[in-house]
Amino acid sequence: MTVEPARADTSASDPLPWHWQELDWASMRPGGGHDELLVALIAAASFVESATAVYTRNLVGHFHDRPEVRDWLDAHWRDEELQHGAALREFTQRAWPDFDWPAAYATFHADYTRRCTPDDLNPDPQLELVARCVVETGTATLYRSFHELALAHDEPLLADLTRRIMRDEVSHFRHFHGFFRRVAEPQRRSRLARLRVIAARATEVRDDDAACALRHVHAHRFARRAGDTGFDALRARGASVLRSRYPFAMVVRMGLKPLDLPARVGMAIERPAAWMLARLMR
Ligand SMILES: [Fe+2]
Ligand SMILES: [Fe+2]
Repeated sequence: MTVEPARADTSASDPLPWHWQELDWASMRPGGGHDELLVALIAAASFVESATAVYTRNLVGHFHDRPEVRDWLDAHWRDEELQHGAALREFTQRAWPDFDWPAAYATFHADYTRRCTPDDLNPDPQLELVARCVVETGTATLYRSFHELALAHDEPLLADLTRRIMRDEVSHFRHFHGFFRRVAEPQRRSRLARLRVIAARATEVRDDDAACALRHVHAHRFARRAGDTGFDALRARGASVLRSRYPFAMVVRMGLKPLDLPARVGMAIERPAAWMLARLMR
């Protein structure tokens, strides 16, 4: 059975900031010649982004009594994330013409839907908005790494695409941060409570989703091939190349923002924190 992802609604009065069809797809090398690991990571990202509708349902339900957040999620965020999925799918299918994307996505989707429940969300809306900032920090920095990898592999179209997606993710971060400030206006949760959420999300974040997606890419692309070294090896290689291009300063700068530290304090800890993070992730 195939499961088609929901499509972005481009008829809305406020359209998407860009459209994936306007990229120079004809410039892309058709089939073969693409780095297999890079395409596998992009394919995994295309699955997670394409399944946004499942996640949106949970989030919209969570913020049902906050019209500003709920309506933006429904009218903008969802469609922008779905467009990321559509564009990354297009790249994957052009790079791997023999890859059965719909079949692989269907098995991922069944797995993902079971795991992605409203229980993942923080019951306190203010703290869930802090968590949203962490998630968008994770995606913005991930696409920054993809952008650098695309440049290194001489993939100009992918570099253009991942730069556009990164900008959207930064914009999502700004929206969630703005909502946090407004929702928290009457009484902001303590810095310690916010720090706990940041630390918890930063370690658990939907890294699970990426691993789940990559598992299905592996099963449909590599598992039955001679010389396959297994899913764990693929995952380890993927983590290693992404780490090699990871923007540590950017993740610290964005990740600490919901703490509203005085500017001087933020600037003072940014460098040492980025250095420590880079060492921890080695
Ligand atoms: Fe996205
Ligand atoms: Fe996003």
